[in-house]
Amino acid sequence: MRDEAGDAPPSIRTRGLRKVFRTGERTVEALRGVDLEIPEPCFHAVMGASGSGKSTLLHLLAGLDRADAGEIEVGGRRVDRMSEADLTLYRRRAVGVVFQAFNLLPTLTALENAAMPGVLDGRPRAECSERAALLLRELGLGDRFDHRPDALSGGEQQRVAIARALHFSPGVLFADEPTGNLDSASSERLFELLGGIAAERRMIVLVVTHEANAAVRCAAATILRDGAVAGGFTTEGLDADDLAARAAELARPAR
Ligand SMILES: Nc1ncnc2c1ncn2[C@@H]1O[C@H](COP(=O)(O)OP(=O)(O)OP(=O)(O)O)[C@@H](O)[C@H]1O
Ligand SMILES: [Mg+2]
Repeated sequence: MRDEAGDAPPSIRTRGLRKVFRTGERTVEALRGVDLEIPEPCFHAVMGASGSGKSTLLHLLAGLDRADAGEIEVGGRRVDRMSEADLTLYRRRAVGVVFQAFNLLPTLTALENAAMPGVLDGRPRAECSERAALLLRELGLGDRFDHRPDALSGGEQQRVAIARALHFSPGVLFADEPTGNLDSASSERLFELLGGIAAERRMIVLVVTHEANAAVRCAAATILRDGAVAGGFTTEGLDADDLAARAAELARPAR
């Protein structure tokens, strides 16, 4: 079951995307005209120095914040033109998001956390639990339904967050440094899992990462520099060192 926006094959396109943050006297141009095109299902990395605008870009694509200018098209729908009501449904059903900090509700079990999007959407509880149970089993958490987040490892918590994000079978999954709180072994397993999700579910999985040895598992990488796309490349034939070198070259400040 793919909902509304998800019916179209997943794709992402932005044109001239700009975002300015104003705090007191200070103005930060976080995005200064991002042009991005991911035309089909793909496991895709976004890299770049700290402050280059990676999280800001993901937030705009996921409908968590509004751009100041530019176009965003996801699955053929213009996200930048959506009303607040449409944007709420888009966030909930058409895309999934996972963060570095997992962001699970601490008082709820794994099953209840994974069922949450359906419950918030007003669907019958039994249906939501059934869907959550199916996803948790698929993600290898069949024996963890009743565990609260503090009784789960970091890798397990992140998989619950992924189950929650996949509740409505979105066409796109955004992950912002999803392995930032994991050790390197769990980190590798999580990237393998995300790659499998992109391939098997025919999704775009767009993942922000600083780790070249994780990013090599992606099919392609886009590098941001100073709020714009500095370039991109496919990872075919690259090892982690090659990828780190190419990313660093593109991320280097222009003179
Ligand atoms: N809510 C905000 N208010 C003010 N400035 C912000 C806000 N969010 C981000 N910024 C600024 O916008 C720029 C881009 O930030 P962003 O978080 O997108 O970077 P990033 O590439 O994700 O960095 P990191 O790798 O450290 O997570 C930075 O200069 C940051 O300080
Ligand atoms: Mg960030």
